[in-house]
Amino acid sequence: MTAVRACVFDAYGTVFDVHSAVRRHAAEVGAAADAVSQVWRTKQLEYTWVRSLMGRHVDFWACTEDALEFALAVHGLAERPELAQALLGAYRELALYPEVRGVLEGLLARGIKIAVLSNGTPGMLAVAVGAAGLADLAMPLLSVEAVGIYKPDPKVYQLAVDALGVEREAISFQSSNAWDIAGATAFGFRAVWVNRTRQPFEYGLRGAVAEIGSLDELAGVL
Ligand code: LAC
Repeated sequence: MTAVRACVFDAYGTVFDVHSAVRRHAAEVGAAADAVSQVWRTKQLEYTWVRSLMGRHVDFWACTEDALEFALAVHGLAERPELAQALLGAYRELALYPEVRGVLEGLLARGIKIAVLSNGTPGMLAVAVGAAGLADLAMPLLSVEAVGIYKPDPKVYQLAVDALGVEREAISFQSSNAWDIAGATAFGFRAVWVNRTRQPFEYGLRGAVAEIGSLDELAGVL
């Protein structure tokens, strides 16, 4: 098998904990906090796929705002604009999974290129990476905004090949989202599913990709 020369990371759910925004304001959200966070994430992703299929792209921040509006309305929290603002503010500076920095440094020390490839806008990614204290690693933050369509469109994965100058077979793509792993393998990346919440296999991925519970295990499967 071709040696891995670059590791490309999904952002939301893989590097950043998307549920940390609601967790930070759990007391204000109340009993529905976990459900609000789940609906928020599910709708955010649904909006990316539906918009891509319709050919009606709006950026990931707009999808995030629209999805939060829906999630709050489902739980009778639509009349709380200050809560929506607080949650959106927290979403800009999501918690970093604790192992991420060490893993990225380890890859760089081995001479492996690193990058983020995300649905997020360039602005969202820069703010999140800055808030998480990763800006000094100077990794490329590749956004779907360059192609105006969301994952898993192959044009998105091609962005990493072009930006890194590494052929697809030598790129390992890491995501906690099984559908993103399916898209990445269909494109021709090697892929590692960061199955943080121990979800069952889907998309025929069993046996086709490495599965790890956190990025701590990445070095062992490259
Ligand atoms: C991303 C989405 C999938 O960061 O969370 O691209």
